[in-house]
Amino acid sequence: MSSTTPMTPIPLSRKPAGQDLSGPRTACIRTFGCQMNVHDSDRIRRMIQDAGYAEVQRYEDADLVILNTCYVRENAVDRVRGHLGELGRLRREGRVKRVALTGCIGAAQESAALKRTYDIDLVLGTHNTYELAEFVGLPTMRETYTPELPGTEGEHNAFVTIMTGCNYQCSYCIVPTVRGRMICRPMEGVIGEVERLVAGGTEYITLLGQTVDAWRYEGKRFCDLLEAVSQIAPRVWFTTSHPSNMEDRTLRAIGERDTIVERLHLPVQSGSDRMLKVMHRGYKAERYRRKIEVFREAAPDGTLSTDIIVGHPGETEEDHEKTLELVEDCAFDSAYIFKFSPRRGTEAATMPGAVPDAIVQRRFLEVLRQIERNAFQRNQRKVGDVEEIYIRHGSTEDGKAIGETWSGHAVHVRTDAAPGTYVKARIESAGPHVLYAGEPSR
Ligand code: 5AD
Ligand code: SF4
Repeated sequence: MSSTTPMTPIPLSRKPAGQDLSGPRTACIRTFGCQMNVHDSDRIRRMIQDAGYAEVQRYEDADLVILNTCYVRENAVDRVRGHLGELGRLRREGRVKRVALTGCIGAAQESAALKRTYDIDLVLGTHNTYELAEFVGLPTMRETYTPELPGTEGEHNAFVTIMTGCNYQCSYCIVPTVRGRMICRPMEGVIGEVERLVAGGTEYITLLGQTVDAWRYEGKRFCDLLEAVSQIAPRVWFTTSHPSNMEDRTLRAIGERDTIVERLHLPVQSGSDRMLKVMHRGYKAERYRRKIEVFREAAPDGTLSTDIIVGHPGETEEDHEKTLELVEDCAFDSAYIFKFSPRRGTEAATMPGAVPDAIVQRRFLEVLRQIERNAFQRNQRKVGDVEEIYIRHGSTEDGKAIGETWSGHAVHVRTDAAPGTYVKARIESAGPHVLYAGEPSR
């Protein structure tokens, strides 16, 4: 966050860049990485629309390309390099005119090297995205983080950021460096935005934050906010949580409140107490297991997902075995498994005990197989159930829409129902990642 108070729009301090505003202008936004970036891209989208740009999907049709980037692992940076290379070519052909790089790479040291290598007109971090307003020729600019954002009224689902940044210092993670310390948004601001969105037709609200369950404001804690939102919105979910902040009453609320999707994403990272300590995660495997017991009891049909890092420096075979044990005990419904990727500026980047690639690869596959085995078995149990399915994405050419059950399972269903509506259908089969439903009865 900039030194300006984050809650108030900040006035324009300099004149707009004064580019040629004549003629049709087009912009293409590419988003990499997490939900926070997806949400930031929505803000960027509003800025470019306000500035009179038409959004296009292909680079070759765009005057301006904005890459909203992720820095959390090296392969994310590699992908961006690939895109920058392609953009350089289009620029030489006279198609793309300007390129802006925003998001987490923009906030990291790496961006200076990228700027030297590639043709980039503007580099912005995560805390000064508002400067993009000036770049696109808008007369006013706002702090990226303002509660009075024009919401996404009318869309069937919306993300509402309730906190930014992170106060943890996990050994491997660049987020505290690029996103800064935790800032929680006031309760009234969040509730007001949710009310506006719901009044405008939004069905599904996702509360967002790097450690969303760490939210607190004037004596209120995350569970208070979640309960309040669940009384206003027809359907609610939240991500991402930290095990150290996850309260049992939140887990019970997931089971008790009809409007909360019974889906929990709770990153564990490792099943070994030794590694959890090295990573500074602040909990032991046993405490994580107990949280999961409470969740499974509160929402027996619910879905549980996690993040796991394999090959963090110093990870031994014994540590890896402990992770496999935890995976077995928790029977996750899905997981994001990551090979450790050193991020410059993090503690783990200079730790001794690098794990050889071949071992990381084997461990990765072992964790993946075990996750998929459990997920497949759990999904099989859903076959035969008749479910109310929320349509997230309308049907594509093959006639299948993608929906979500109240238990948080992803379902492919043959229907032309509109996004944001519900259908009822029987689950006919299941794979490790999705359920397949038959023809809806309504
Ligand atoms: N290497 C590998 N995985 C990482 N993650 C974060 N930083 C790294 C890194 N340096 C993973 C964690 C986190 C998820 C968003 O990305 O599992 O929960
Ligand atoms: Fe990164 Fe740890 Fe903060 Fe999550 S809790 S964003 S892994 S530092």
